[in-house]
Amino acid sequence: MKKIIKNICCIGAGYVGGPSMAVIAHKCKDIKITVVDINEEKIKAWNGDDLNNLPVFEPGLKEIIRECRGVNLFFSNELKKTISESDMIFISVNTPTKNKGIGAGKASDLKYIELSAREISKYAEGHTIVVEKSTIPVKTAQTIKEILSSQKEKELNNKNKSFSVLSNPEFLAEGTAINDLLNPDRILIGGEDSLAIDLLSKIYENWVPEKKIITTNLWSSELSKLVANAFLAQRISSINSISAICESTGADVAEVSKAIGMDSRIGKNFLKVGPGFGGSCFKKDILNLIYLCEKFNLVEVAKYWEQILSINSWQQKRISKIIVEKLFGTISEKTITVLGFSFKANTNDTRESPAIDICLDLIEEGANLNIYDPKVEKQEIERIFNKKLKNKIEIKKINISGSVKEACLNSDAILIMTEWEDFREIEWDKIYPLMRDPSWIFDTRRILNIESIDHNKFNIWSIGR
Ligand code: UDX
Ligand code: UDX
Repeated sequence: MKKIIKNICCIGAGYVGGPSMAVIAHKCKDIKITVVDINEEKIKAWNGDDLNNLPVFEPGLKEIIRECRGVNLFFSNELKKTISESDMIFISVNTPTKNKGIGAGKASDLKYIELSAREISKYAEGHTIVVEKSTIPVKTAQTIKEILSSQKEKELNNKNKSFSVLSNPEFLAEGTAINDLLNPDRILIGGEDSLAIDLLSKIYENWVPEKKIITTNLWSSELSKLVANAFLAQRISSINSISAICESTGADVAEVSKAIGMDSRIGKNFLKVGPGFGGSCFKKDILNLIYLCEKFNLVEVAKYWEQILSINSWQQKRISKIIVEKLFGTISEKTITVLGFSFKANTNDTRESPAIDICLDLIEEGANLNIYDPKVEKQEIERIFNKKLKNKIEIKKINISGSVKEACLNSDAILIMTEWEDFREIEWDKIYPLMRDPSWIFDTRRILNIESIDHNKFNIWSIGR
């Protein structure tokens, strides 16, 4: 086996693959990294001159791309050549929840992982370390190993080849991806081949202190990723459930979060109330965990984790209902401004965004929507609703605005869905004349300083108080 890694390939130039490889390239100038993707448009965009239009928006990313692209970081559609030249291959393809067949609605669809493993098996040369980066169900490494060791593929190519498989889950959160990658809490490497573990570890040691790099067996590593996300999601569902009690009793959820978070055993992170968690991972990973429990007949455990998801949907439904109730029990033909569409601030990602289901509820109730998000493209919002809504008349009720002001024109209510910094700075006195009376603001993220807003002009509902 080679003693140092010179060439890295990453399959999948998405939210995980792109930023993760950019940071490795930035920190390891002597390694050549090529990120490949089947999507030609995406690769074109990664290679584009306009760094403000990269496929992924992350603070700090474009500066690294400017520095490394074309030097030791490349984006390409040439899978075969890149695989054959690489000593280490990261798999960062998407693993959506299966929508049919066994495990539909819960298990992950591993077809892209399998496809990637087959390509690697076909084109790799010499010894190759294959690293799972995608979030995957436990025991996926076994599938990858089996595909890689398939004799047929080897004979087909007639090359002497061997593989080591490692699990190296990514814990980056969108919107802070670059910072998370530069200053990780820990790097987790799971595997059996100590030399391969050592080579991957050496890469991270270029910027991560050795004590933060932990190694486990493959299955612990795979499971830890699911469990980390499940625990984070559980905290959010817990505080969101408390937000409803606060609204009924006169307590304030922000004060409760602060008070409990100061207990060092509880800690202050992930106790922020909101419209429910979104993003590509939490729901999918908990569904995976539930699937795993059911598979091993751990019914009570499965039920426990199911409840985290049901509170999450309940919180969204609860918000839609409150809006209708506050607007005199009907929002038919009323206009509601939706501020923010991404699942959280500082990302253009809309996967599982709570804004989607809440907007669908409001449309179902007959409202017209003006949606504005500073980073999500108009086409992306249109694509989502064209898929979700079959009725053309309903699609016409959605208007995508180019600014906060435009979105607030003739509106009855403003619904803050994402905690974008821009929304904290809105001058409400200037918005009021644009709206219809009575003017409502619904703050699902607790970003408003309600004392500073004129209560003679606005009715305000702020979650959890
Ligand atoms: C992450 C996680 O890695 C994944 O487990 C989870 O399911 C979703 O979140 P992410 O990088 O966010 O993945 O996904 P995405 O932005 O969709 O990127 C995946 C990329 O892989 C896409 O650009 C897609 O075109 C590419 N891909 C997919 C391939 O190049 N080859 C394939 O066979 C399949
Ligand atoms: C998450 C994990 O944090 C990350 O480690 C993993 O690799 C991928 O999944 P991400 O989904 O990008 O990252 O964002 P995260 O910051 O965890 O937020 C997820 C959702 O929870 C968002 O919708 C966010 O608004 C919500 N959230 C988060 C809350 O409602 N309250 C909080 O206190 C924190």
